[in-house]
Amino acid sequence: MAGKKRLAILISGRGSNMVAIARALKRGKIPNAEIAVVLSNKPDAAGLKKAQQMGLETLCISHKDFHTREDFDRRIVEELRKRRVDLVCLAGFMRILSPYFINQYRNQIMNIHPALLPSFPGMQAQKDALEHGVKYSGCTVHFVSEDVDAGPIIIQKVVPVRDDDDADTLAARILRQEHKIYAEAIRLFTEDRLEVRGRRVFWKKKP
Ligand code: GAR
Repeated sequence: MAGKKRLAILISGRGSNMVAIARALKRGKIPNAEIAVVLSNKPDAAGLKKAQQMGLETLCISHKDFHTREDFDRRIVEELRKRRVDLVCLAGFMRILSPYFINQYRNQIMNIHPALLPSFPGMQAQKDALEHGVKYSGCTVHFVSEDVDAGPIIIQKVVPVRDDDDADTLAARILRQEHKIYAEAIRLFTEDRLEVRGRRVFWKKKP
């Protein structure tokens, strides 16, 4: 049997998706994977401490130490290559990746977004959805392409908007589903079951 797929989880903040992925792994829900590193671009990211408490290797590379986006990305890619990473999971990583990074890991970088893309891309998706007045929002896991929040969609989950929601209550309801679908998308990847054809991602049947 082929070895386990090695994951890098990139964070910038609280890291709840990272924790959910790590827990899914610990519970045996993603048997073909292991976490090689949790990497943050911010030294004070709360997720870093949580990762350390879970016994995971952590690394902080501040984007502020680099002149250009690509210089920063080259350094990250170097660290990922050292650790033989197969899949890069962006989990609240608030940096846009350069074409260099994306080309190094084509269809091997996933992102989670708290809306049903292509609706409400950007930094405040839950607030935008609420203010637009949608009755349903949700979350999306997609492969990362050069266009922000626009790569091929792997999995989505619909979440209803309630009359008494504010951006925080809606975000919390969406977050619970994010934690489920991210682990699911990673499991499909690690089972070699994701096939990308143009913009569409097909889930291959289990052999
Ligand atoms: C999550 O809700 C994620 O979907 C969102 O940031 C949050 C990170 O939370 N990402 C984006 O908005 C990307 N545009 P976490 O650090 O607790 O996983």
